[in-house]
Amino acid sequence: MEVLLKRDEIAAAVARMGKEITRDFAGESVVLVGVLKGACLFLSDLARQIELNATFDFIAVRSYGTEKTAGEVQLIKDVITPLRDQNIILVEDILDTGLTLTFLRKHLLQHQPRVLKIAALLDKPSRRAVPVQADYVGFQIPDKFVVGYGLDYAERFRNLPDICVLEEAG
Ligand code: IMP
Ligand code: MG
Repeated sequence: MEVLLKRDEIAAAVARMGKEITRDFAGESVVLVGVLKGACLFLSDLARQIELNATFDFIAVRSYGTEKTAGEVQLIKDVITPLRDQNIILVEDILDTGLTLTFLRKHLLQHQPRVLKIAALLDKPSRRAVPVQADYVGFQIPDKFVVGYGLDYAERFRNLPDICVLEEAG
């Protein structure tokens, strides 16, 4: 598979994002909320680049529909941490149509956090169907299906250390 982002480029971007978060929340604490399962590797690396009092939690969703009929996102696992008045950073692998993060933003805002920010390792801005932006972005990428570093195709390839472009089937 063609490598789009090598492990050292990913590490440098994650370190830069950690610095930005450390600077923006200086003197405060943050709760990192990772979206299962894709954001697991990113969250574990990002957390180690944040020099603040930080805790983790995880949330999971399921999306229905194809690319063209997307729209249904269902919560399948909520956070267990009380988030009221906390600084939340929602940590996601990739921002694509934006439906998942739009859903999760609304959901987490119901917990009445002090601040809610979004950290997305990858962003495919050309694919956006609903307007949502990440506050911290690792890389903007073209409209290609990528796997590795947590990202899967049918649950496979999450363990690849680099981010690769999945060759089109057929
Ligand atoms: P959105 O709701 O369309 O923004 O999609 C976000 C979710 O779609 C991500 O959490 C991924 O699970 C999945 N996704 C979107 N693009 C890719 C990709 O290129 N590779 C792997 N998963 C992707
Ligand atoms: Mg995902």
